[in-house]
Amino acid sequence: MIKNEIIETMLNHRSIREYKDETPSDEEIESIVRAGMQAPFVSQLYSVILSRNKEEHSFDAPLLFTICADFHKFEKIMEKRDWEPVTNDLSILFFAVQDACYMAQNMVTAGESLGIGSCFLGAAPYKAKNLKEKYNLPDKVFPVVQLAMGYPDDDPSPRPRYPMDYVLFEDEYPEFSEEMIEKAMDEMDEGYLEQDYYRKLGAKISIQDEKEDEYTYENYSWTEHICRKWGQWYPDVEQLLKQLKECGFDITPKD
Ligand SMILES: Cc1cc2nc3c(=O)[nH]c(=O)nc-3n(C[C@H](O)[C@H](O)[C@H](O)COP(=O)(O)O)c2cc1C
Repeated sequence: MIKNEIIETMLNHRSIREYKDETPSDEEIESIVRAGMQAPFVSQLYSVILSRNKEEHSFDAPLLFTICADFHKFEKIMEKRDWEPVTNDLSILFFAVQDACYMAQNMVTAGESLGIGSCFLGAAPYKAKNLKEKYNLPDKVFPVVQLAMGYPDDDPSPRPRYPMDYVLFEDEYPEFSEEMIEKAMDEMDEGYLEQDYYRKLGAKISIQDEKEDEYTYENYSWTEHICRKWGQWYPDVEQLLKQLKECGFDITPKD
């Protein structure tokens, strides 16, 4: 594999959940956000809210960025040009979420190139109404993800990924053999167990029904953890639709 400084930075990525007290400088923050802004975009349909109130942040991170899908600011531009938006809210949201995510990931990589670590926080869409109130977000601005950031006070190894043959398919999507599935599961599970990842994180998801939990941190690993998410969480589409509606995105089909 080719290795250069940029690829090495990306391959050394790991989420950081312990931070030093020291806050990155304004110059560092500006460089990270500016690098984020140079990500490819559909229409720069994003905004970033910065909080330095570390006592309110997960992991006591010195910085917390709330990265929002934002159509509000382009509506302002359309008004100036005497245009009315006609694009449906689902399409706008789809593009805006992409703009926000590419930007957010550029910020992660830029931070890492400066020795600054980070960790995404995925609950933002489910508490969008609270964040709207907290940060005074106008309609058509939706918090997609939050990003905790600061100088690492921990030095974990990069976490495993699927084998390449479970990700990259040339010309056509394969039918997975048992062997491919098991190899993918083993690489993930063995890698996470080797790092004692979930024990260190104290992050075992409990089983919601009465079924007995046979797993301990000795054998609880990535595939079990993720099964417990997508086998139990968010069965109801209304939960997210409601948050979107609170933020001015109406996704319900018109009949
Ligand atoms: C959209 C998104 C949401 C995430 N939410 C959380 C979170 O709420 N808490 C957390 O500790 N990590 C969160 N993560 C970090 C992932 O757990 C982490 O990226 C994944 O386990 C891979 O580990 P690595 O980033 O160290 O390679 C999130 C990552 C993404 C991309």
